[in-house]
Amino acid sequence: MLDFLESSIGKKVLVALAGLLLIVFLAAHLAGNLFLFAGAGPFNHYAEALEDNPILPLAEAGLAALFLIHIILALRARWINAAARPQGYEVRADKGARTPGSRTMALTGLLLLAFLVVHLKTFRLAPEEARETDLFKLVVDWFRNPWYSAFYVAAMLGLGLHLSHGVQSGVQTLGFNHPRWTPAVRTLGTALALLLALGFMSMPIYFGFLGGAK
Ligand code: HEM
Repeated sequence: MLDFLESSIGKKVLVALAGLLLIVFLAAHLAGNLFLFAGAGPFNHYAEALEDNPILPLAEAGLAALFLIHIILALRARWINAAARPQGYEVRADKGARTPGSRTMALTGLLLLAFLVVHLKTFRLAPEEARETDLFKLVVDWFRNPWYSAFYVAAMLGLGLHLSHGVQSGVQTLGFNHPRWTPAVRTLGTALALLLALGFMSMPIYFGFLGGAK
């Protein structure tokens, strides 16, 4: 088992598994964040209920582990591959299968990493006082900064691109690769990527540029 996890295919499986579990987190996070559109009362109520949940510390530790596994192993594989063929391929055998999403995985991944650092710093690691008294105000005040909101929109475009390739590639890595199912998985992956990217984007757009909650 340890030998498998240390092999390059084992690490690919871990990247895929962690990535797909992170999508479950993203779907739940988006659903919760949509309470922002219902106003301060419902959103703060939701945030309080989450904060009071005794399993939150355990869930946060699991989430941090998923992010670390996914990011570190994916970047490591990328560096190892780049070192193995510094000039790149003259002619790529799989050229026809390359999509904008697959070509930019490392770039969009790094953009998302930068997003995550800014995001955690401004929300999760904001002073306890601001988070606990009115999380809604904290979020909306940040979104009223057009630079902050523009960065979020750009990062969510990156998220859409990253997932447009990531979902189907992850599913394939986990072994679900069949001529009959692959097109359906690809369509579902694209739909999920669009839904998550547009969903997350809607908040900075509404509060940052359309004057929401004024
Ligand atoms: C653009 C819409 C988003 C909004 C409004 C939003 C809002 C928030 C807020 C308010 C918190 C802090 C919760 C607290 O302190 O109790 C938070 C935490 C977090 N967010 Fe987001 N988020 C958004 C998008 C994202 C995206 C796209 C990702 C991942 C790529 C993400 C990853 C996280 C993580 C990992 C945490 C820490 C969770 C925890 O430790 O409990 N968020 N988010």
